Amino acid sequence: MAKPVHIGLLGLGTVGSGVVRILQENRASILERAGRPLELRRILVRDLHKKRAVSVSPDLLTTSPADLLDDPEIEVIVEVMGGVEPARQYLAEALRRRKHVVTANKELIAKEGHPLLDLATRSGVFFLFEASVAGGIPIVKALRDSLAANRISQLMGIINGTTNYILTRMARDGSSFEEALREAQARGYAEADPSSDVDGYDAAYKLVILASLAFGTRVPVERVYIEGIRSVTPVDIAYARELGYVVKLLAIGKDLGESVQLRVHPTLIPQEHPLAAVSDVYNAVFIEGNAVGQLMFYGRGAGDLPTGSAVVADLIEVARHLERGPVIPACSCYTQKPLLPMGKVTSQFYLRMEVLDKPGVLARIAGAFGEAEVSLASVIQKGRGIQPVTLVFVTHEVAEENLRRALDQIRRLPCVHAIKNVIRVEGERP
Ligand code: NAP
Ligand code: HSE
Repeated sequence: MAKPVHIGLLGLGTVGSGVVRILQENRASILERAGRPLELRRILVRDLHKKRAVSVSPDLLTTSPADLLDDPEIEVIVEVMGGVEPARQYLAEALRRRKHVVTANKELIAKEGHPLLDLATRSGVFFLFEASVAGGIPIVKALRDSLAANRISQLMGIINGTTNYILTRMARDGSSFEEALREAQARGYAEADPSSDVDGYDAAYKLVILASLAFGTRVPVERVYIEGIRSVTPVDIAYARELGYVVKLLAIGKDLGESVQLRVHPTLIPQEHPLAAVSDVYNAVFIEGNAVGQLMFYGRGAGDLPTGSAVVADLIEVARHLERGPVIPACSCYTQKPLLPMGKVTSQFYLRMEVLDKPGVLARIAGAFGEAEVSLASVIQKGRGIQPVTLVFVTHEVAEENLRRALDQIRRLPCVHAIKNVIRVEGERP
């Protein structure tokens, strides 16, 4: 019998329990694939007396990180605690002691991943993070290995399950944002404090990780343009549907050669686009490579077993190399490209405004668009006689700074009561 790979697990919550269950239930097939048994040696938790979702020997549990970090038998640390500190400190210590690391913590990787990867390279050990983006979808390895022959020009992802669930409920049932959020919380998708999900930060953490792999460039998460879904209303979703679009929270990355653009915001996408069919808590990542063409990865982006599946796959990769000789992947970044300012980013826009219904109004608004070189693709007017009426526009592709110039002028027109919403559109309708 081959010598076991001893594992120290940091955290036994949702993901930690999924990891334990997979290691217990798939023990035989994992041994075949890894070449060595994967054995849990210690598990760090905060509360030794908490009821756990899986059955583990109480002797394994500890509240002292030193019980894992000081144990020379532990070769791999799996971090599924969450948050930046103390997780960063524990992982840095593990890497310094030449222990391999597997983590699901996107916030930590987005904020502190590069120093940790550099430390792992210096120590000659693995630092793997498949589970950090899109849960069970194997997107990290796909970008790092399977698509390594390509120049990736763009990626677009629905990479936050909570917001996708909320937008799906709003579109299907006409629920308000608040009602849909309460439902997401009741079903256990959204946290009690849902801001990281609904304000777009969770998706931004995942986007910078994807961009580092796809474009080979580091972008600090504070530089990513982030807009959450709180401003999306059932009214906008209904107009979008009438125009042939659905509204999704997209994480978008584009490599423009000299620069890159990274952004997270609500977006109208054509009903025919493959991402439009991604509903409920599902995730998907759409990628365009110059050799492979268009690809879409789809699956469960969260949950104990889907996320555990990705964590255990990383563990198997480590075990294989321990058994058969290591090939250590280094940090994927090899260049430093500037981030394109949001004003220079071009896209189409959906605009909804309330205006007076009288002759000449449309001409004045169209004039403001024209002066700023914003060209219009469609216009809808709703209502007649009752003031104000609603005007909905979809523009052709235009730089954000031009659109902002037009809107500044339109906002000042006495015939315009309010610009009620502005949402970016991705993907020209056929
Ligand atoms: P969770 O359910 O809140 O579990 C966290 C675990 O870590 C708990 O067992 C907790 O101990 C332990 N812990 C936290 N801080 C600790 C500390 N300072 N010292 C000792 N133990 C500590 O979290 P989760 O949902 O499993 O998420 C874990 C990580 O995976 C996060 O980085 C998250 O972003 C990522 N992730 C989660 C999902 C998902 O579907 N949940 C999907 C992809 C990635 P106690 O149990 O004793 O409190
Ligand atoms: N909170 C995340 C989501 C799951 O809603 O997709 C963990 O990545």
